[in-house]
Amino acid sequence: MTDIELRPICDAIGVEVLGVDLREPLDPKTAKAIEQAWYDYLVVLVRDQDLTLDQQTAYAANFGKVAVRHQSTATKHEQNASNALMLITNVRENGKPIGTLPDGEMMFHSDTPYYENPLKATLLYAIDVPSHGGNTLFSNSYKAAETLPESIKKRIGTKKALHIYDYGNQNKTEDSYDISVHPHYFHPVFRKHPETGRSALFVSELMTEEILDVSPEESRELLDFLFEHQAKPEFVYEHKWRPGDIMMWDNRCSVHARTDFPRDERRMLRRITLEDEHPVFAGEPPLQEATVE
Ligand SMILES: [Fe+2]
Repeated sequence: MTDIELRPICDAIGVEVLGVDLREPLDPKTAKAIEQAWYDYLVVLVRDQDLTLDQQTAYAANFGKVAVRHQSTATKHEQNASNALMLITNVRENGKPIGTLPDGEMMFHSDTPYYENPLKATLLYAIDVPSHGGNTLFSNSYKAAETLPESIKKRIGTKKALHIYDYGNQNKTEDSYDISVHPHYFHPVFRKHPETGRSALFVSELMTEEILDVSPEESRELLDFLFEHQAKPEFVYEHKWRPGDIMMWDNRCSVHARTDFPRDERRMLRRITLEDEHPVFAGEPPLQEATVE
């Protein structure tokens, strides 16, 4: 038994864990309980934490291997702090952002699907937040998969999609990307989660460029449908950050987006990620709508 309390955030996705102080190491039972809650709810929030980078990294390490960043994409400030850190911030020194992804909104995406082995988890810790905006939206990709019309499931059931990303753009600015220039990978449209066995829709507006083995017109039509579908309010939770919030999300079965916020207000969050110990498994199109407990 542990002393933690689980409080679901909304019907769509997410759970708040109460009764933990993440400055201290988690005992194995508590870590296991949080991990299971994460599988059940996809996004785990803990509020009112006061964490150093080392404490955040230690919390992350309960759930997998902490990922080391490609240092070519990290700023000097990030490199000096840790080879695992991404600082999501609009704070600038001498006119240059000290971190990554500084300004503006971001379309729905999962983190790094353009690699063969995308990141399993992302843990974001809020230090400074603006007075309004800069919220993170999370969408449940199991529910998106389960509620697709049967006709669409049939059309995309065994297909793969091309994921590609142009670093530096937070929203798509090109109609199509040159795959010789940008990191990219082909993954199944339905992805089987290795822990839960459930199928999730594994596409997103920011990262997914094309569905393979259909005409360009059909690919565009299908992707437009899927992007609109996964953004439906019934699958989405919008998180308004408070300093001291730490959220862990599962990139295998959720996508996230960011709302715009005032450029002249300070926003700073620390990101640590986890590698995936499994390859990407192909999933079956879900037969019927299941409920997320
Ligand atoms: Fe992201």
